[in-house]
Amino acid sequence: MRVIVSTKTVSEVSTSLLAAYSFEKEEPKNLKSLDELSDSQTSNAIKAGEFSGKEGETLLLHCKGKAKRLLLLGLGKREEFTAQKLRSASGKATAQAKKLKQRELALSLDVHLPISVYDASQAAIEGAFLATYSFDKYKTEKKEGESEKIEVGELTLLATSSDARAVENGAGIGTITGECQNLARAMCNEPPNNATPSSISKNAEQLAKQYGLKAKIFSASDLKKMNMNALLAVASGSVQEPKMVVLEYFGGKDKICLVGKGITFDSGGISLKPGKDMEKMKFDKSGAIDVIAAAVAAARLKLPLHIIAIAPLTENVPSGSAYKPADIITTSTGKTIEIQNTDAEGRVILADALAYASSLKPNAIIDLATLTGACVVALGSVAAGIMGNDEKLIEKIKKAGSESGEKVWQFPMWKEYDELVKSDVADVKNVGTPGQAGTIAGAKLLEKFVSSPWVHIDIAGVSDSDREKPEFSKGATGYGVRLLTRLLQTWKK
Ligand code: BES
Ligand code: MN
Ligand code: ZN
Repeated sequence: MRVIVSTKTVSEVSTSLLAAYSFEKEEPKNLKSLDELSDSQTSNAIKAGEFSGKEGETLLLHCKGKAKRLLLLGLGKREEFTAQKLRSASGKATAQAKKLKQRELALSLDVHLPISVYDASQAAIEGAFLATYSFDKYKTEKKEGESEKIEVGELTLLATSSDARAVENGAGIGTITGECQNLARAMCNEPPNNATPSSISKNAEQLAKQYGLKAKIFSASDLKKMNMNALLAVASGSVQEPKMVVLEYFGGKDKICLVGKGITFDSGGISLKPGKDMEKMKFDKSGAIDVIAAAVAAARLKLPLHIIAIAPLTENVPSGSAYKPADIITTSTGKTIEIQNTDAEGRVILADALAYASSLKPNAIIDLATLTGACVVALGSVAAGIMGNDEKLIEKIKKAGSESGEKVWQFPMWKEYDELVKSDVADVKNVGTPGQAGTIAGAKLLEKFVSSPWVHIDIAGVSDSDREKPEFSKGATGYGVRLLTRLLQTWKK
């Protein structure tokens, strides 16, 4: 989708669908021009109570001007406004254009928003991009009545001449963030027979080449030399070779490691999961994909930072060579882990990956992992759980969470919880006490392997969605790409 910033007014712009935002119980700021365009249908609809600006509300009007249709979008109450509402409304407009089989869409940002035009433009464009994606590449049969697929190819953002610069900058960031999040969604949605550690590595290498990052792919024999026995143990049941992808982008001094759990399929291993919903475990690679996509975004945005994305990749499947409950593994740091359940594999591979990140002595480590079912129980699909050893970094992530619309909620890491992962026979064990603070237990194991300011983000509940929304199709969400990009974009602020 091509994005154009234009200083044309709503009556001047030629488009097949023009969308205008409006707050609840407020007259749209440019009502006069909207009425001119729509032959007074806008104020008639408002007077008749057919459109009140409620959050999520839409009204489609046909016009005789240069714009052929006008779509009014409700943002809800002004006092309750967040950038996320603008993102969703813009997504709805894009979905509507797609449904009406229109290739053009224009968004009018002339609304007096409580956030800067720059942030508003970013959010609006992100929402529009996110609405364009759906996972249909494996569908070989066309839908009934569909001769060809029609997509929104051109998106015009209307700005006043004094705002044009800020709108252009915000739209530029929104385009990159939106595209990178869709890239993450596409990679995560790939089925486990195609998205293997090797194919994801190749994909990452290709992205690095395209966007000017350095790529290093560690093979199983490299991992052996590096004593990454925890990653190798989880991989030992699979015929797929494990890999570790390291993507690096140099844009400045502050060094930030982004580590992501990359289980391309989590069957549980010898501690096999029940069959119900097991197919969802293709999304267990989301953390790895998200950090790869975020590093690409940082490079494309030319952020003044040194970003290193680290993605350990393997399947977790049972076989005669698989790791077993009761195994004791000596990790790359020399610390030992007692395996009590092979289904708690994420923390095992992350032990080696986080130790590797720590050895690079970064200013911060942020890891993303679909780590625990307990996090889904606690927060559902609304927010990710965050835990860490550095309150300042946690605060930064909370701020990025509310600005990006990818919500986070903090869990405590008090010393008392160390008990959860104490082992009788090794330094730590990979499961806590059943039924007790499972998400924190996971983070407590990870904590033992980091020696830098660090935050762990448990994305088990947010990495995929089984609910279809007009502005966000079901499947992989790419959660984390916006959160991380916003964090990096505002790092020094
Ligand atoms: N990948 C799962 C966690 C998960 C569960 C993600 C549901 C998304 C939705 C993880 O590897 C796992 O199996 N964790 C176990 C840990 C337990 C055995 C200590 C869990 O949460 O049940
Ligand atoms: Mn598991
Ligand atoms: Zn898992």
